[in-house]
Amino acid sequence: MLRDQFGRNLHYLRISLTDACNFRCVYCMPEHIRFKDRKDLMQNDELLFLARAFVDLGVDKIRLTGGEPMLREGLTEIISAIKGMGVNDLSMTTNGSLLADKAEELAVAGLDRVNISLDSLDPTKFRRITRWGSFADVWAGIIAAEKAGLTPIKLNVVVVRGYNDDDVVDLAGLTLEHPWDIRFIELMPVGSEGGFALDALVPSAETKAKIESAFGELEAVPGYNGEDPSRPYRIPGAPGRLGFISSVTAPFCAGCTRLRLTADGKLRLCLLHEDEVDLLTPLRQGTSYDEMKRLIAKAAWRKPWGHKLQESQFPLNREMYQIGG
Ligand code: 5AD
Ligand code: SF4
Repeated sequence: MLRDQFGRNLHYLRISLTDACNFRCVYCMPEHIRFKDRKDLMQNDELLFLARAFVDLGVDKIRLTGGEPMLREGLTEIISAIKGMGVNDLSMTTNGSLLADKAEELAVAGLDRVNISLDSLDPTKFRRITRWGSFADVWAGIIAAEKAGLTPIKLNVVVVRGYNDDDVVDLAGLTLEHPWDIRFIELMPVGSEGGFALDALVPSAETKAKIESAFGELEAVPGYNGEDPSRPYRIPGAPGRLGFISSVTAPFCAGCTRLRLTADGKLRLCLLHEDEVDLLTPLRQGTSYDEMKRLIAKAAWRKPWGHKLQESQFPLNREMYQIGG
């Protein structure tokens, strides 16, 4: 089992499959950008070697992220190999644009569920936020994911002042008709877009108040385990649920069980700290499986606690799309 210096049990790994994306969300990346060369990313065999080491060390929950993970070649094979390692919960965070045609195949390969980013229901605003995204494609992706059984469907809304802060009511209204989890996420300042993020932050309390002024007081759904950063609520009588992820205004470090593996094979100990340990270089230099496990366990021990976002200090050594949220 992986433990850190604060006694947290680190059993949840997020693996970024690529830094590339077919969207250009304003809060995540600049429009013109050069992604990493493929040779500098983990190859499929390297990725699976590392994934197996984490699973051996007690990781039982894995999420695939990006950039956009569906741009990765061999995604279906990666999913079936990881599922075959005996992971309980294998999920993927995606922008949903490529899901309509692939959801069924991924479900058959062993993917359990998906989180899809959906920042607006208004196609024009959706386009403005994502720059290159099509609302219709993503909506088709959500419907296909549900049909394929990649459930519970979770939709992530990053709330951005001046872009979609007025859309949160319509988005929350989706839960009246669909059994989906809609999670409103505070914009986090990371990397070169960090200054934008600090200016455009909408605190969760404000988003929740706006939704309550439209639908009345939300009820807390019972059975919250404290590990999920978002306590579930619902509009009374609605089949779907709402959540608010307040990473900036109310950090959830005590319940954090996550580690992140970047597409270029670095173990990122916390999204909001620059601290990373390179695993790919030692792997390419011939480090044995057992040595790798020791290296991972030693690195995980150092996982930090807390952040200084409220003092406008944020990590600069990496971009959001290179970590995958
Ligand atoms: N702050 C919060 N969430 C972000 N995401 C991307 N950039 C940020 C940011 N700066 C979200 C995406 C997606 C998930 C991978 O992370 O919208 O839902
Ligand atoms: Fe792509 Fe996700 Fe970044 Fe948007 S937030 S540009 S979909 S990686």
